[in-house]
Amino acid sequence: EKGTYAHFMLKEIHEQPSVVRRIVSNYFDNGKSRIDAKILNDIKSSDRIYILAAGTSMHAGLIGKNLFEKLAGIPVEVHIASEFAYQKPLLSKKPFFILVSQSGETADLRACLVNIKEMNYPILTVTNVPTSTLAREATYFLELYAGPEIAVASTKAYVAQVGVLALLAYELSSKDFDIRDELTKVALSIENFLSCQNILDVTRYLLTHRNCFFIGRGLDYYTGLEAALKLKEISYIQTEGFAAGELKHGTIALIEEGTPVIALISDPKISHNTRSNLNEVIARGARTIKIVTSEVAEPGDEVIVDSVHPLLTPMVMVVPTQLLSYYAALERSFDIDKPRNLAKSVTVE
Ligand code: M6R
Repeated sequence: EKGTYAHFMLKEIHEQPSVVRRIVSNYFDNGKSRIDAKILNDIKSSDRIYILAAGTSMHAGLIGKNLFEKLAGIPVEVHIASEFAYQKPLLSKKPFFILVSQSGETADLRACLVNIKEMNYPILTVTNVPTSTLAREATYFLELYAGPEIAVASTKAYVAQVGVLALLAYELSSKDFDIRDELTKVALSIENFLSCQNILDVTRYLLTHRNCFFIGRGLDYYTGLEAALKLKEISYIQTEGFAAGELKHGTIALIEEGTPVIALISDPKISHNTRSNLNEVIARGARTIKIVTSEVAEPGDEVIVDSVHPLLTPMVMVVPTQLLSYYAALERSFDIDKPRNLAKSVTVE
């Protein structure tokens, strides 16, 4: 039930702090991780992780790649499920597969699973539905504990996917910080943002345009991809997520007077570069908004989230973009929870 919320999407956005806390409490028992040692051993004896997924879950997979590579030193490839199923890349000698899926029923992933099983490689499904096809048919599964996600636009499942992939990567790492503390800070940062900031006031003027760009570098680029998918799927504004430095190699031609460009900036090492890319689009007439972390915030930045552990930053940076999409669709009076042409789980290839 929606309770006091006007839509499931808004309710699910607001549930995110408790989802993150639930992941922490369900995956730890007296400080000890509950992740099956067999999963960890299989990954340790592999030479490469392949993450397969679709849509928002694929974007969570991109953040997962960074987590496994940075925390555990394991190389990762992320593939779109519908592509991997019929155009397999050259695989490494000992691959380990992770299928990421909220529903656990996505047909494109099922096609991958059948394929990988024939080759006898281990498969871990990370899903919100432990009774789903992909959970049952994989070698292992890990649950997201996000609770039922009803809105077609995925929000809390994405944050949960990044959280569970982070826990898994952490268990494979030298553990030189406490992930429970860091995830608790993530929950607090999201909570704080949701209780204080009115994203609609800041962004209303951006939402009357027919197209929109999100730009960012590194992890913020991946968040931009997710933000663009969310905005387009429920507000029908044509939106692209772009690597900030790549814009000048062609796409900047689309910037004209009033084009909305939203920059995501969280990494102090490259904040300056993204800000100068913003100046390039401002010079061509773009109307811009900056979504930043407190660590890199400068006077004039419009939307600020509290900084968290750098590797977990996407879990908080995505939240303003979810609300932005929600309000954009609300302003246009569209069916937020059931956007046109889309189904919650895509069971055809
Ligand atoms: O159930 P899944 O996570 O496998 O679904 C994958 C995509 O269909 C899904 O994430 C889709 O992109 C969402 N509607 C995005 O909000």
